[in-house]
Amino acid sequence: MSSSSSTLTVDDKSVDLAIKTGVIGPSVVDISKLYGQTGMFTYDPGFTSTASCESKITYIDGDEGVLLYRGYPIEQLAEHGDFLETCYLLLYGELPTAAQKADFDYRVTRHTMVHDQMNRFFTGFRRDAHPMAIMVACVGALSAFYHDSTDISDPHQRMVASMRMIAKMPTLAAMAYKYHVGQPFVYPQNELDYTSNFLRMCFAVPAEEYKVNPVLSRALDRIFILHADHEQNASTSTVRLAGSSGANPFACIAAGIACLWGPAHGGANEAALKMLEEIGTPDRIPEYIAKAKDKNDPFRLMGFGHRVYKNYDPRARIMQKTTHEVLNELGIKDDPLLDVAVELEQIALKDEYFIEKKLYPNIDFYSGITLKAMGFPTSMFTVLFALARTVGWIAQWSEMIEDPSQRIGRPRQLYVGSPKRDYVTVAQRG
Ligand code: CMC
Repeated sequence: MSSSSSTLTVDDKSVDLAIKTGVIGPSVVDISKLYGQTGMFTYDPGFTSTASCESKITYIDGDEGVLLYRGYPIEQLAEHGDFLETCYLLLYGELPTAAQKADFDYRVTRHTMVHDQMNRFFTGFRRDAHPMAIMVACVGALSAFYHDSTDISDPHQRMVASMRMIAKMPTLAAMAYKYHVGQPFVYPQNELDYTSNFLRMCFAVPAEEYKVNPVLSRALDRIFILHADHEQNASTSTVRLAGSSGANPFACIAAGIACLWGPAHGGANEAALKMLEEIGTPDRIPEYIAKAKDKNDPFRLMGFGHRVYKNYDPRARIMQKTTHEVLNELGIKDDPLLDVAVELEQIALKDEYFIEKKLYPNIDFYSGITLKAMGFPTSMFTVLFALARTVGWIAQWSEMIEDPSQRIGRPRQLYVGSPKRDYVTVAQRG
């Protein structure tokens, strides 16, 4: 990382601010000393121009539509890699050797069961509870079961907590699904690979044998790779901020899941499918495009637009291909939702409003159609996102904990409330 400097002049006072340059991507102006030197803060709601940390994990070029995990293009990882290999890469910075991969897969597999008392947490929920509500609660509750991996100053305990969360997330996600549909929990089967095991835990029933479909398993594994990390997005920043206070890793990941749930973030896959269902037929698309463009209508095209991508989201391209593979495998020749999606995309991409604002389909536009075809209810979509993103959250959390310059995250504010005033008793208030 090289550095130069810039000068900021406020009234008649000038201060030198270092410019730090990364490996690729925009440089940053280091304003960490600005308050001390000028008594002023910077103002950037939504952090559109603010880098909150240095990171070596993920790089996005939003203008070019590029996404790299530890330098590797997402297209190559999705085509040739598998999800656990991607987890290893995100956590340790390099692709594993065959021996490292075998050892990592073994370690994750040996942590897939959850404490049996966790079962009772589920029965405390209503059957119609949103599975994301269950996930927030159960992942947070892991801190109450695994006391031997909550000391964040111990690298071994951090590693064990990381393995536990990557391994147990599919088990908890499948339990949330089973509870929702009123079927018995299915325990993990360690002979199966990570994603096949998850499919089995979701869709097997005790009454008959369940055979994992390798095409669907591979497709879901690829979907997990696509969701594994996305640099400093809202949920990752939430995990980092929670972790900056020294909170235990299970609590931090629960905070990330809560943030992911929102429709502007991970909840968009559920919202996108609901939107496609609501549109129903291609002839109604113009009506919805008009709504999306209407300043007085809060409606947005879900699965469209992105804070960073001002070009086609590279994950959306791979997702679109995966959608076709899954529908072919399942023999679904005509999916009305896919028809609506394809036409909606075509119309929006040619529309001046979307062109001018650089709004392109994001990963969530096609993921819902794929997951629905696999048999997941819409309420599970964001849970699958959380399952896959867990490794990204953990890698980013670990990077932060291991950074010697790490301090508690504490943004400042521009106060616009009442100036100081004196308390008046109820009797004196007019
Ligand atoms: N439909 C219609 N108009 C839109 C849309 C959309 N989906 N997205 C942005 N715009 C307009 C917006 O109204 C604004 O217009 P104007 O400048 O006239 O006020 C302009 O584009 C910029 O939007 P913004 O809200 O300032 O942009 P942002 O960077 O704050 O928001 C976003 C990014 C993803 C929250 C937003 O594009 C959105 O709400 N999209 C729909 C939800 C969605 O698909 N989210 C999934 C994101 S990808 C998965 C993930 O990483 O979680």
